[in-house]
Amino acid sequence: AMSQGAGQAATVSLRNSVGSKLEVAKHGAHVLTWSPGVNEESVLFVSPAAKFGPQDAIRGGIPICFPQFGPRGALEQHGFCRKNNDWAIAKQDEKSVEFELKDSESTRASAWPHTFQVNYLVELTDEGNLATKMKVKNTGSEQFTFTCALHTYFGVGDISSTSVEGLRGCEYEDSLQGGKVLQEQEDAIRFEGEVDRVYGPTPQGDESGEDGEGTAEIEIKDQSHKRRICIFKSSSFPDAVVWNPWIEKSQKMADLPDDAYKRFVCVEVGAIRQPVSLQPQQEWEASQAISVKS
Ligand code: BG6
Repeated sequence: AMSQGAGQAATVSLRNSVGSKLEVAKHGAHVLTWSPGVNEESVLFVSPAAKFGPQDAIRGGIPICFPQFGPRGALEQHGFCRKNNDWAIAKQDEKSVEFELKDSESTRASAWPHTFQVNYLVELTDEGNLATKMKVKNTGSEQFTFTCALHTYFGVGDISSTSVEGLRGCEYEDSLQGGKVLQEQEDAIRFEGEVDRVYGPTPQGDESGEDGEGTAEIEIKDQSHKRRICIFKSSSFPDAVVWNPWIEKSQKMADLPDDAYKRFVCVEVGAIRQPVSLQPQQEWEASQAISVKS
């Protein structure tokens, strides 16, 4: 169903037979809400001050960062896809929707002028998990490179009793220390101030979790909600960003209330440290699935 949901954005709503549901904005092919269980609140955080205008990047849910992650290139921060209104719906049924974005006059006029097609499949599994698949095809005649991420905002009860697990031993770039490369020593990453790190390549599991069931690569433990959020990713998303802005950065962000940092953590699967290179007609594919366990 296309409707004006979640405030102002035109959205597509999906539902499965057990009553799980999710909502995706056409603007940016941006997943806004996802409720795995009947009458459950969304697991994804969306800022109460989020902006949904045609030029805005929606603060919360799952923004798609493409063809550039963060400031790593000549484009605006996180690339042009998340603000793009030209996403088309390629396929849709009750439980899934596939969005498609092709180069346009405006993308060709950008600092990344390439001919491309991105397909983004969003699916509710029978168990109520959220499964996404992103495909990028070079439809032009010259090679290009890109970086990307699914910038998921996970809602938590209290950031101070939340930890991110599964990254021990992994190298990371600490964005708060000018990208200094360090190695994670902890089983559980905890939050006592701003954290902004690009981990990668992260320990990779057995690739069995495309439906969000099995052993996750990364887990978010949320003690106050007494639950774990399980993140499964394909090895084509080798990296993961862990970000919480904490108070001072929140105060500087117009679309985030000052104390909202307590209620989310971003864990963003992506291909970041090593840009992906595609030859003409070549295709790249990566997936993420998420589930919630008590
Ligand atoms: C994260 C970056 O991915 O996104 C942070 O690592 C950044 O440095 C955050 O602050 C939010 O970015 P934006 O452009 O949505 O404000």
